[in-house]
Amino acid sequence: MTTQTHSAAPDLPVDMIIFGGGGDLSARKLLPALYMAHLHCNLPPKTRIIAIGRRDWSREQYVQFVEEQSKPFVDKKALDPQSWDTFLALFDYVRINIDAASDYLRLAEIARKDVCRVFYLATSPDLFTTICDNLAAAGLVDNNSRVVLEKPLGHDLASAQAINASVGRHFAEAQIYRIDHYLGKETVQNLMVLRFGNAIFGPLWQAPYIKSVQITVAETVGVGSRAGFYDQTGALRDMVQNHLLQLLCIVAMEPPVSLDPDAVRDEKLKVLRSLRKMTVADIARDTVRGQYSPGAIGGEPVKGYMEEDNVPAESRAETFVAIRAHINNWRWANVPFFLRTGKRLQKKQSEIVIDFADLPFSIIPSGPRNYGNRLVIQLQPEESIQLQMLAKEPGSGMHMLPVNLNLDLQQAFSERRAEAYERLLIDVMRGRLTHFMRRDELEAAWAWVEPILDGWKELNDRPRTYTAGTFGPAASSALMARENMAWAEEA
Ligand code: BG6
Repeated sequence: MTTQTHSAAPDLPVDMIIFGGGGDLSARKLLPALYMAHLHCNLPPKTRIIAIGRRDWSREQYVQFVEEQSKPFVDKKALDPQSWDTFLALFDYVRINIDAASDYLRLAEIARKDVCRVFYLATSPDLFTTICDNLAAAGLVDNNSRVVLEKPLGHDLASAQAINASVGRHFAEAQIYRIDHYLGKETVQNLMVLRFGNAIFGPLWQAPYIKSVQITVAETVGVGSRAGFYDQTGALRDMVQNHLLQLLCIVAMEPPVSLDPDAVRDEKLKVLRSLRKMTVADIARDTVRGQYSPGAIGGEPVKGYMEEDNVPAESRAETFVAIRAHINNWRWANVPFFLRTGKRLQKKQSEIVIDFADLPFSIIPSGPRNYGNRLVIQLQPEESIQLQMLAKEPGSGMHMLPVNLNLDLQQAFSERRAEAYERLLIDVMRGRLTHFMRRDELEAAWAWVEPILDGWKELNDRPRTYTAGTFGPAASSALMARENMAWAEEA
């Protein structure tokens, strides 16, 4: 699939039109990100932010909402009263009942001509089709428009295809920005530099020099007030289908010919299409679902998932998942990729661990046997890259011990790191698509995930409980132990 370059003039003013303007995502992420972009003069001149919501609010009432619900999420050190005031001056509010086509005319009345209209759909994906149809009917979509689609994009392959098809009726592919905020993280973008800016790893970045890859996104938070959404979704759809698979793509892809959106996305797509489809037997053996039970995080007691508000009594949603995946291509034949994510785990930690092949033969009798070097890429909360290697322990004799070559990226670069949403919103306004998912990529990710969802149903699989504050069910450790391997924190 290629993405025709789209014709929006690069320096047009922007009308940022946010559907779901009174929602949680807007308050906690989008508006603080837009404020930071404003503070650092990264919004195009004459930008306007038009929030769309169901409530019958005036502009002043919406501004009040921003003050109360959004300002607390702005980094205190970045709050400059004058910049905050000029930021609030950018806002407008329009009440729209999403289903009521005539309501969109109110937006058409105040939307400016000759601007780039960015429609940010921070709503449930069930509404995307209606919103796009009604925007088009009101004459609001033109060549200069862009649409941003929040995840989750559908709940399976068919629903994702249906959304893509209906949005695609009104917007060309180059006007569609499917957001995965992990692609906006500094450290995730830095992964590309680690791989393609350092020739040293090139020849080693494949089987048999790499023995296995671990990708972990561990969170300490629980589902909080989101159980209504989460219980229908689960960790596989919420995190693996998008964030973890995107990380896997960057680790596993071939070098793209350039950083052009299609060059990068073509390579990611090949990885997704090479993922070995899992049979029901694979799913029973190579996946682990978990659900947290009461425990403690950082010394504080926390509830179990079943005790969270709005969780149905018969819930089977997984809050943890671990998968042993394989990529069927020359580079990665027989290299297991262990993916793992969960809520209420021991610590917040996103990391990629590359385990290199064991020593073929040791001439030094003392020291670890079967030792392989390990590259640990910490994405959050710390940003660091460590290469574990053996060194001689000082003293007489030849005794070897593992030590780290340690690159602390926070220390190396003291510059401010923009939050993922800030970078991605700026990318949308500047028309840069590289860090957004293309239609075929999204669908390929669903095509791999869907059989796992079906397999769990067929197996009548119930999530195993794990105590909040641990690293998930014991079966997750067993998944690795079976191959004489261990998750990084257990090694
Ligand atoms: C979101 C998920 O996409 O990512 C949340 O819906 C999850 O459930 C969040 O908590 C994690 O993002 P981050 O940036 O905190 O790692």
